[in-house]
Amino acid sequence: MTNTYDFGLVGLGVMGRNFILNVADNGFNAYGNDLDEEKVKALIEEGGDVSRINASTDAKTFVEALAVPRKIMLLVPAGKIVDAVIEGLVPLLDEGDIIIDGGNSFFTDTDRREAYLKDKGINFFGAGVSGGAKGARLGPSIMPGGSKEAYQHVKPIFEAVSAKYKGEPCVAYLGPKSAGNYVKMVHNGIEYGLMQLTSEIYDVLKKAGGLTNAELHDTYAAWNAGRLQSFLVEITSEIFDQKDDLTNGDLVDFILDKAKQKGTGKWTSQNAMDLGIPVPTIDIAVSMREISALKGERTKADELYDRPTPSAVDKAKLIDQSEQALYFAFIMAYAQGMHQLADASQEYGYELDLGEIAKIWRAGCIIRAALLADITEAYKAEPALQNLLLSPAFVEKVKSTVDAARELVSYGATNGIPLPGLSNALTYFDAYTSQRLPLNLIQAQRDYFGSHTYERLDREGIFHTEWEK
Ligand code: 6PG
Repeated sequence: MTNTYDFGLVGLGVMGRNFILNVADNGFNAYGNDLDEEKVKALIEEGGDVSRINASTDAKTFVEALAVPRKIMLLVPAGKIVDAVIEGLVPLLDEGDIIIDGGNSFFTDTDRREAYLKDKGINFFGAGVSGGAKGARLGPSIMPGGSKEAYQHVKPIFEAVSAKYKGEPCVAYLGPKSAGNYVKMVHNGIEYGLMQLTSEIYDVLKKAGGLTNAELHDTYAAWNAGRLQSFLVEITSEIFDQKDDLTNGDLVDFILDKAKQKGTGKWTSQNAMDLGIPVPTIDIAVSMREISALKGERTKADELYDRPTPSAVDKAKLIDQSEQALYFAFIMAYAQGMHQLADASQEYGYELDLGEIAKIWRAGCIIRAALLADITEAYKAEPALQNLLLSPAFVEKVKSTVDAARELVSYGATNGIPLPGLSNALTYFDAYTSQRLPLNLIQAQRDYFGSHTYERLDREGIFHTEWEK
């Protein structure tokens, strides 16, 4: 059947298969393509009706089956494979066709591909897709960037397949060029921060409060019923409830404490450094994955140094403080990520609407949380808000939880329980909200050894002092 299918998808791995089934469930005929014959067969079988879902290993058959302008989404691993797939498709496409990269591609790769394809009259979208395999099947949050005109062709399909928050689709056109990939990258940076925070709170509850896995399950479940409601808190509570198949214990206790990473958190940190925007909660989350990887060294070092035995605590009070501290630190992680987006928008000309971004993160994605409804409102009220901490709606939330964060950080420091995400969040808060920081001394030092000059508080101009007497 020529030129009849509404949507094409290259890469029928778990994400691709789930996404294309979701597209078909929403009334669009879809055609898949993968080099792996088994995956093609499996999709046709699962689809049931080839006029609704079909697939081929042959790129030409695949392209010819699609209605023009063709809408072809790639769900293949980021990197060289994306370029290879594009190279294979280009000779088969017509002007006006649309390629959408749904992977976690680095944003400058997306800019390069967009410019390359624009020359050939082909529209290219970088569209972050969040929500894992289940999200792809039942409704992800989608973050597309590219040509606004071409988006009109993709919009009905994306709006139909995306997650819904109170009926509103969790997808929106975000901006030109790599805006979509950039937003997804920062989403992942925030994801790293939230995951680090939930894990270190687990550490303190277990080591200081002596909570069992059953109690941890109940605690995180209770938090998920309150203001901390979020996908990550919810799955954390379920993780504590998981029995192990291989032993009589709980699975979480048998999992090696080395966290892997594919790079999106690191990119967020690296690019924040380039922009000059502080995101310490994200930075430390990346560093902690790196420290976790040094298991052998950590084990040796553990034998060389003593650690205090955590002092007794009131369990109920610790749980309450932990809830407040986690809420406080979650706010800091979102504030830092949003701040980075605001700055990147200026730097790269994305013209991002931060309220719209918070809105499409309210459901479907990994960082979905009740807090995002408040963040959406804060940016709606003040679209040019520089930082969430400056939003009147957030002042009370932060003021009422910061003391618990202070107490927990100081308990962790005294008792040798590392709380790097929480303490960095607190330090970020204390520094960001300080009218005067001691960096005057750094300016003096720079001028002392390098004649780098300094400015003054009391008069305009650039000054230099001969410091050496
Ligand atoms: C999502 C996730 C996803 C990411 C994984 C793994 O939004 O669905 O962000 O895109 O690939 O979370 O990331 P790391 O391997 O870097 O932890």
